[in-house]
Amino acid sequence: MPAEAAGRIEIVQGDITRLAVDAIVNAANGSLLGGGGVDGAIHRAAGPELLAECRTLGGAATGEAKITRGYRLPAGHVIHAVGPVWQGGGRGEPELLARCYRESLRLAGERSWRSIAFPAISTGAFGYPLEAATRVAVAEVRAGLARWPGLERAVFCVFSDEARRAYQRELGAPRGA
Ligand code: APR
Repeated sequence: MPAEAAGRIEIVQGDITRLAVDAIVNAANGSLLGGGGVDGAIHRAAGPELLAECRTLGGAATGEAKITRGYRLPAGHVIHAVGPVWQGGGRGEPELLARCYRESLRLAGERSWRSIAFPAISTGAFGYPLEAATRVAVAEVRAGLARWPGLERAVFCVFSDEARRAYQRELGAPRGA
């Protein structure tokens, strides 16, 4: 991994709602009005003010990301990104997933935030194959850290052992592998 990104990317296995970073990214749906999985966990932990602010956002398209405050979360903000539903890979899913990471990093970078944590977007209810999603996530975060040098820390917050292993493999792989 190039020096500029090495040491700035880490894997944490656990509940993203517990991370005290500038922003945690939510794997949301287009309504931005909550759901299950990590979306449900974030809304439960942040409290009702989060939903109240989400109601003012007017939803989001797949690949888009919007910011709210973090309220009761230890994280300062939540970046709600809408990942693609996996439909076999031929409907632009890789680019839409990449855009979730790219847009989240842009929003954080433009605000000079220094730390951001991502769940494995789209790999749960949205059915995106884990290995393929992990390749997209790692490539985009590496590129984003090069683009936004103020971002000192990018965390892949994984929930399962399988996801941890997938990210360890991908981060350990030589670039372009
Ligand atoms: N912290 C970190 N990761 C979590 C947590 C948590 N508390 N809870 C779940 N995850 C992991 C899942 O194990 C999965 O690897 O987040 C990843 C994304 O899974 P989902 O939350 O199901 O998100 P996604 O696949 O993007 O589907 C989004 O599900 O919850 C609804 O409203 C959401 O409609 C949207 C859809």
